Amino acid sequence: MSTFHVELKKVVDDSYDIEVGFELEQKLIQDIQNGLVGNIRKFAVITDSTVKDLYAARILRRLTEEGYQAELFVFQAGETQKTRKTKEEIEDAMLEKGFRRDCCIIAVGGGVVTDLAGFVAGTFGRGVPFINYATTLLSAADASVGGKTAVDTPLATNLIGLFNQPEKVYLDIATWNTLPRRQISSGLAETIKHACLASRVFFDYLDAHMEDIFANDRQACEYIAEENCRIKYKVVMKDEREAGLREILNLGHTVGRAIETVSDYRLLHGEAVSIGLVAQIRLAQKLGYVDEDAVQALISLLRKAELPVSIPDYIDRDALVKKLYTDKKVRDGRLRFVVQKQIGEVVEFEPGVFATPIEESVAREIIEAI
Ligand code: GLY
Repeated sequence: MSTFHVELKKVVDDSYDIEVGFELEQKLIQDIQNGLVGNIRKFAVITDSTVKDLYAARILRRLTEEGYQAELFVFQAGETQKTRKTKEEIEDAMLEKGFRRDCCIIAVGGGVVTDLAGFVAGTFGRGVPFINYATTLLSAADASVGGKTAVDTPLATNLIGLFNQPEKVYLDIATWNTLPRRQISSGLAETIKHACLASRVFFDYLDAHMEDIFANDRQACEYIAEENCRIKYKVVMKDEREAGLREILNLGHTVGRAIETVSDYRLLHGEAVSIGLVAQIRLAQKLGYVDEDAVQALISLLRKAELPVSIPDYIDRDALVKKLYTDKKVRDGRLRFVVQKQIGEVVEFEPGVFATPIEESVAREIIEAI
């Protein structure tokens, strides 16, 4: 019998820039011309049926005008399409159009598009580079930044995926102009989450400028995009693979993700997270980490952002409690929650440990109360 030791130590540099600005299509083309993805000349632009005509077709046209080979791959808009089946369809279409390893994927859209396209990029030909061009507040605030890519399954959201970092992320604030108000609110939930876990100053800014954000005021939107990035990338740079600290970005998501699935996606991601934020702050209050003023401040801010703060009647409470156990944070069959400490901090339960086990009876009590 023989043993071969395969020594494969890696030094990886996955660094990338996130550019925040208005109308960044031309900048994207210039960056490609200046070698953002080396000598690659073939681009798969992945988008959904809503974003196709608004932005993706224009990016495709610009690439073609500049002499690149580019094709559009479009799937039906909506969280229910973020599946292995859609991934397979895009992959087959790319193969059919002659795409192999010498290509780059450009994801143009919201969180569903960037999550899915980043996952396609991670496995297509064993991995090709990708660029995120985020066109929603939700993807700017969370999904397009940080390298989590995934699809949903009937059991739960985001259970199948990869950590896969893009070559660059463009957060085009001008695109928020075309978002329905409900989608702005959905993105605001992830924004409020960031404020809750990292910055009272940001929380107060959101409270004072909510109407400016809804009105797509350039200064206010740029500020929130930058602040979201600052808070998120500081965490990701310290703990890309969620060994500890990155768990804090799941604030509100234990209940949020479960309720999103149980609602059968009637609730948008941010709406579900909003309810999850209320659940975790009520839990934090029960555990003695926040006072009633902080709870009321959060509920009032979520309301200002036109987000739900209680569980809709059509949600089956028992199904919801059961669904909590599909969360990625569950360990040894026990529910675990991240909770905030007043406004602007999260609780570190032990050095490097940011989630605490919670009995099902306590989770049930919180759910019944909201
Ligand atoms: N959306 C949570 C994270 O990126 O870690």
